[in-house]
Amino acid sequence: MRKLQKKWPKIDPQLLEALSQKIASELGLSFSKKLSDLEKILIKYFNEFKTEKLSVKVKQLLQANLLQEPNLINLLTITETYFFRNYRLFKALEQSILPGMLEQKVKNGEAFTIWSAGCSSGEEPYSFAMLIDDMREKLNLNLELRILGTDLNHQSLAKARRGVYSNWSFRKIPVKYLEKYFKPLDERFYKIDEKIRHAVTFQHHNLKQGPYPPSPKWTQFDLIVCRNVLIYFDKETSFEVLNNFSKVLKDEGIFILGPAEMPSLYFKQFKPQLINDLIVYRKNGFVLHKSATNKSQGMNRLTVTSRKPKKLKIEKRLFQLPNNDKHESVVENSVDEKALIKKLADQGELQEALQLAKRYVERKPMEEEAHYLLGTIYFEIGELDKAKTSFEKTLYLKPDFLMAYFHLANISSMQSNQNNVLKYFSTMLDLLNHYPADQSIPFSDGLTAGQFRKLVGDILETEKVAG
Ligand SMILES: C[S@@+](CC[C@H](N)C(=O)[O-])C[C@H]1O[C@@H](n2cnc3c(N)ncnc32)[C@H](O)[C@@H]1O
Repeated sequence: MRKLQKKWPKIDPQLLEALSQKIASELGLSFSKKLSDLEKILIKYFNEFKTEKLSVKVKQLLQANLLQEPNLINLLTITETYFFRNYRLFKALEQSILPGMLEQKVKNGEAFTIWSAGCSSGEEPYSFAMLIDDMREKLNLNLELRILGTDLNHQSLAKARRGVYSNWSFRKIPVKYLEKYFKPLDERFYKIDEKIRHAVTFQHHNLKQGPYPPSPKWTQFDLIVCRNVLIYFDKETSFEVLNNFSKVLKDEGIFILGPAEMPSLYFKQFKPQLINDLIVYRKNGFVLHKSATNKSQGMNRLTVTSRKPKKLKIEKRLFQLPNNDKHESVVENSVDEKALIKKLADQGELQEALQLAKRYVERKPMEEEAHYLLGTIYFEIGELDKAKTSFEKTLYLKPDFLMAYFHLANISSMQSNQNNVLKYFSTMLDLLNHYPADQSIPFSDGLTAGQFRKLVGDILETEKVAG
């Protein structure tokens, strides 16, 4: 049998280019490097296979307002999402970031407000609603919660408002939330609890055109989440959008991107901060730090203060070697001691952990792990220069200590030293290339070399483009 050859009609490249620019300027989505994808989308949208007729239709589209073409938007957008996507984020929020913030809201008699921007069919804002509703109960907080979910795609928003989901949306949800907040409708579909459904308001909104905030019913937000959306925009549009977010984020608020996204160093309004190995952003000059511990809940509370990073200080001598005689007499179980210091730090007892870590380092100045541990504590309390020195000492003693590079790159980013960010991440990437992809990296809480390669590679790409 003769093999049928599929022939695609060709759209004039100039027309395609013009449409791609129009899409970028009206919807933010960048197709400049994906013109052949755009061509396939247009053939599908018009259901037209004749080159000439297609050209006429594309020319008409060039005169239209793209926001009035919902079926085209359905084809242009990627709406992949699921409940509790990147569960590590939700865990960190629950354990470290939210308790302090929520309690403060209750104290002030204010509602806690969240904007999930580019929320697709609602799994993301509903995950926040479930997480916080559950925390509200556990912590016995009389808290008002207001969540806004916005998206460009009307079809996704309609699904979000219905609140009915199939198994596919539940691929990563912890069972406790599924059992508590969903009712099965049949073998495949579940309906979300009415209380959770009412906690979230859905609204159509175009991040490219605004307005910011999306409506006068909302002013400024405590938390803005925009995950896996800006990756579809070009650099300039991402900057515009980030800038707009920074205007509607409260001073003490938190901004969250997807795990492999990072705004360029040239975007000064947000500063990254590492919390439980997770990067969150806050407005420049505001630092999250652990302030108290609720042992009964096993939670570390984080509050936000305005503490500007200190000026870089150049240390001439890295090491003050101690008089060994004096220190040799102290014999201890160093593994347990380090574990204790780490535990205290994890529980938010940072000052105590700091004192113990300093003393430990004095006794064991040639132990790279000790310097690393001290560095992480300095980092958490916002003493960036001291953290930097500790991580430098770690590398002096063990030049392939990967996580020390990672922290140094993040500190350099916070201190707007782009050359050093590139230097540390590039070295880290070189070293990572010698590891098998599935090998977990020491002191990273189980992240693998493959995951780091992707993360660091993506960051370097963005920074080099921005530079
Ligand atoms: C991959 S989904 C991300 C969903 C969710 N944030 C997550 O991480 O699971 C990207 C979403 O961004 C939306 N989007 C794309 N361009 C947008 C724009 N200009 N304004 C608002 N939303 C947009 C898409 O419609 C899509 O639903």
